[in-house]
Amino acid sequence: MYDPYSLSLLTDVCNLQVMAQSLYSIHWNLVSPHFLSIHKFTDKQHSLVLELVDELAERVRALGVKIPTTLEDIFKLKSISEVCLFGSDQTDYQCLCALLQSTQMAHGHVTESIELANQCNDLGTQDILIGIEKTLAKQIWMIKSQSIQLESPVQQPRSEIRHES
Ligand SMILES: [Fe+2]
Repeated sequence: MYDPYSLSLLTDVCNLQVMAQSLYSIHWNLVSPHFLSIHKFTDKQHSLVLELVDELAERVRALGVKIPTTLEDIFKLKSISEVCLFGSDQTDYQCLCALLQSTQMAHGHVTESIELANQCNDLGTQDILIGIEKTLAKQIWMIKSQSIQLESPVQQPRSEIRHES
């Protein structure tokens, strides 16, 4: 149905759409003492991912390939797992770990597409994919930095512990 290169690009488009939904699932459904900071973070990342997917989808259209838009088709072509808090109570740490894994998988797939674009001498698409790779790498760093903090909560310094006398 699709040649391997087109299929790889469509998988990137679908992965980014799944990422956008995962970010909204956390943005809307998370219950946590760190809700506000994660709520703001996921909102910003969601906007960034939508910009990325729009740019890539329009490039793929320019190459003559149609874009899957139904949830059913997106789920057939995606290669990453979805983060879903609907019907499950995950901690902020579990959410960020799942988001990290999903983002790393999307990043890995984009890296493969960059190589394919190079082999096809499709420099325009390669340029867009490199931009996506850089943004996802930055997201991975930001998610890691937040999740490490949640895994090891800062202990109250002993000097600040009050003793009743
Ligand atoms: Fe919002």
